[in-house]
Amino acid sequence: MVHIEFTINGQKAALDIPADITALETIRSLIGLKGTKEGCGIGECGACTINVDGKAINSCLMLGARLDGTTVVTVEGLATKENLAPVQEKFMENHGVQCGFCTPGILMSAHALLAENPDPDHKEISRALSGNLCRCTGYSQIFVSVKEAAKLTDQLNQLKKVGG
Ligand code: FES
Ligand code: FES
Repeated sequence: MVHIEFTINGQKAALDIPADITALETIRSLIGLKGTKEGCGIGECGACTINVDGKAINSCLMLGARLDGTTVVTVEGLATKENLAPVQEKFMENHGVQCGFCTPGILMSAHALLAENPDPDHKEISRALSGNLCRCTGYSQIFVSVKEAAKLTDQLNQLKKVGG
């Protein structure tokens, strides 16, 4: 067993985990946050995407032990009590929401992108979402949603600045 301590969705977590389990198993089975999905389990679909220290990571490819000392956000941690995150709000408004398997991962990739690049162009969005697969539909509404979320994030940041 390995002892790990990390922050997940703003809460401290400390637990003993088997050394060979993934971050995905740790989060879903041991912590009980089921929003992060297991699709392929081999790093190809993006359903398991979480944000680790601000980066979008396939949690099925990461050992749980490597969560130690990190700050993790899962799809459950995007919204506050009062508000949805900009990506959630704009995906809903612009019909970017797909099924329950791919959407959490897409949101987490989009969230990490906007944290790093507040005004991404089409190519940058495409690159950021290239690891999130959905063969059921087109991606155009997803692209619109990410662009709109970028605008909303910018507006919120401006308001924060004005409010001090
Ligand atoms: S479940 Fe991790 S990439 Fe598919
Ligand atoms: S995999 Fe979710 S809608 Fe296609």
